[in-house]
Amino acid sequence: MNIIWHEKTKQFHLFNDEISYIIAVNPVGELGNLYYGKRINDKEDMSYVVNRFGLAQVAVDADTETYSMELNRQEYPSFGTTDFGTSAFEVEISNGSKVSSFVYKDHKIYKGKQPLEGLPATYADDSEAMTLEIYLEDVVAKTTLALSYTLFNRYPVVTRHAKFTNIGPSKVKLTKALSACLDLPDQNYQWMQFSGAWARERTPIVKNLGPGSVSIESKRGISSANQNPFVIVKRPNTDDFIGEAIGFSFVYSGNFLAQAEGDTFGRMRVLMGINPDRFTWILEKGQSFETPEVVIAYSDSGLNYLSQTYHSLYNNNLVRGKWKNTPRPILINNWEATFMDFDEEKILKIASKAKEAGIELFVLDDGWFGDRDDDFAGLGDWVENPKKLPQGIPGLARKIESLGMKFGFWIEPEMVNPDSNLYRKHPEWALSTPGRKASLGRHQMVLDYSRPEVVDYIYGMLHKIISNAPISYIKWDMNRSLTEVYSADIPAEQQGMVYHRYVMGVYSLYERLRNDFPDILFESCSSGGNRFDAGMLYYAPQAWCSDNTDAIDRIRIQYGTSYGYPVSSIGAHVSAVPNQQTGRTTSIETRANVAYFGTFGYELDLNHVSHEEFELVKSQVQFMKEYRQLFQFGTFYRLRSPFEADQAAWIVVSEDKEKAIFGFYCMRSNVTMLPGFLKLDGLSADKVYVLNDEEYFGDELMNLGVTLTKLSNNGLSTGQDFISYVEVLEAKK
Ligand code: GLA
Repeated sequence: MNIIWHEKTKQFHLFNDEISYIIAVNPVGELGNLYYGKRINDKEDMSYVVNRFGLAQVAVDADTETYSMELNRQEYPSFGTTDFGTSAFEVEISNGSKVSSFVYKDHKIYKGKQPLEGLPATYADDSEAMTLEIYLEDVVAKTTLALSYTLFNRYPVVTRHAKFTNIGPSKVKLTKALSACLDLPDQNYQWMQFSGAWARERTPIVKNLGPGSVSIESKRGISSANQNPFVIVKRPNTDDFIGEAIGFSFVYSGNFLAQAEGDTFGRMRVLMGINPDRFTWILEKGQSFETPEVVIAYSDSGLNYLSQTYHSLYNNNLVRGKWKNTPRPILINNWEATFMDFDEEKILKIASKAKEAGIELFVLDDGWFGDRDDDFAGLGDWVENPKKLPQGIPGLARKIESLGMKFGFWIEPEMVNPDSNLYRKHPEWALSTPGRKASLGRHQMVLDYSRPEVVDYIYGMLHKIISNAPISYIKWDMNRSLTEVYSADIPAEQQGMVYHRYVMGVYSLYERLRNDFPDILFESCSSGGNRFDAGMLYYAPQAWCSDNTDAIDRIRIQYGTSYGYPVSSIGAHVSAVPNQQTGRTTSIETRANVAYFGTFGYELDLNHVSHEEFELVKSQVQFMKEYRQLFQFGTFYRLRSPFEADQAAWIVVSEDKEKAIFGFYCMRSNVTMLPGFLKLDGLSADKVYVLNDEEYFGDELMNLGVTLTKLSNNGLSTGQDFISYVEVLEAKK
């Protein structure tokens, strides 16, 4: 890994074993991109890449008369001069102009990586990464810009963000401040986004790119299940196993925009950052604004490698604290078992049975506080309901602990029901626009987390409960989108700052609670997977992946999630059948076979399963305890996509390739079928693996495959849908 500054040619070359990123100060003093991709040798001068000529309708810089930004790839394109593509930012000054030109002043190269203030970001020590900060200035706007690039040593990854500072006497207004732009030299790409809805999160959608724009965004205040803030730009032939791909992952949990724009000259611009729609940021004299981070990863060997890069980077350089690379406790959550209809006795009965099965953590879900017997009331009143919990959270937590389990509970700290003591006391603390009706979502309103006093108040209540009881885990939910966004406490011109300040408020509360209680395992949730993003993983190392717990639907949801996020982050539970969301009935084996490839837990009352099923649950818990390190932190490969066929498969392989576990799922039985084969991946070709007491070479399993005997009844249909396998392979000593 190195970052070289070629003083004479004013070019930077960032490279490690896998990638090169070449940036140059362009003839007008702004920053241009000369190359991004597979590692190439370092050269003093790469300026032959720069185009210098005029064409009809192409505007050129008046001094050089030969240089147009439009004809050259930019690093962080400015607005209003010779580039007609989408700009990465807009700075409006007092005369109303947004035209800008940020020119190179200086730079700094250092080992390691600096944190972003108040924002989640990847981190690295001096041996893991190097950072380049390039300082630019617009003399008219009297504003400086620092562009940061961190190059990781072990990963084909560069992270980017930008920071604006007002150095003049008058205020300036940022009306757009994206985090990164990458201009690519051709348009032979496809765009892959991860779209969905509540209970149907992160379906991969592929579109061809060409001239014109393709974009996804969120305007909901959260990253959303509708579009995930992660996209891949790939070659048309790229699949999980081969081909070139570039990933863009936004380390942020609010409104975002990701866009690819093909220009008339056959090039492709990719942009990512906070959504400029509903964003303005005022910078008074001396103030700065720092954008969140984008993590750009490269693969020339398929999407599995791209995903593995994100998995490993996020496990090692994003997740922090005790739970970093630590196998997660097997939990039981009472939500689908009781909803809000419970008391301490009922909870202890569920917990005792779970303990008998070997489950380690009990999670008390919604309904324990305030006047909350249904979802019309109580949010905001973080005080136990004595009818349900006579000795409060501390009493219940101690009883659960004395059973030999850990205890955790559910909160939704960003919300308030109009029917709550908090709202009656502080209606102005809920987001709403003066004179307009406030929309509701699940009968609740969103607290104005852009106001520090609101965050402080909720912090105080939660801190009190948590510090009085042995709490090991917290599920932090967020169950509606933001509407009528307006903060009662700030002047008109700052209203465009509320969405981002809200997100910063959420991050600040997470950070305070994490600092106070560093051992607590946080799981983020937003009606399931509506805020499953890299920003959240910095605070909460796992996320409830979806409210849809149906095993068959979950295969797709977890498969789609795996493109950008590690197995260790994917909350996955075995729930009761018929499934509450889909009505589908699957075996308890198949339900567990899907949930193993996640953080694994149960969400049902084990008192209500048959004796045989209970025995199976016991052995599932045992099995997960033995292999959870491998499931959650092994190298994960997608093998067969449920979006292409009625079958799905994936595998996790240990770092030394001594052990692997694959999962295979068949959604639908077929008539007249031969058993078929499943080709594995990631094994060592020459090792001999033992699978069900038989021996196979690694290359045999990867090229010929595993025979899927369960799929066929001597060539006829088995008559059974939802057949699944989870099998362990171990290399022979
Ligand atoms: C959301 C969550 C669920 C559950 C309920 C409780 O829908 O996604 O897992 O916690 O809220 O109200």
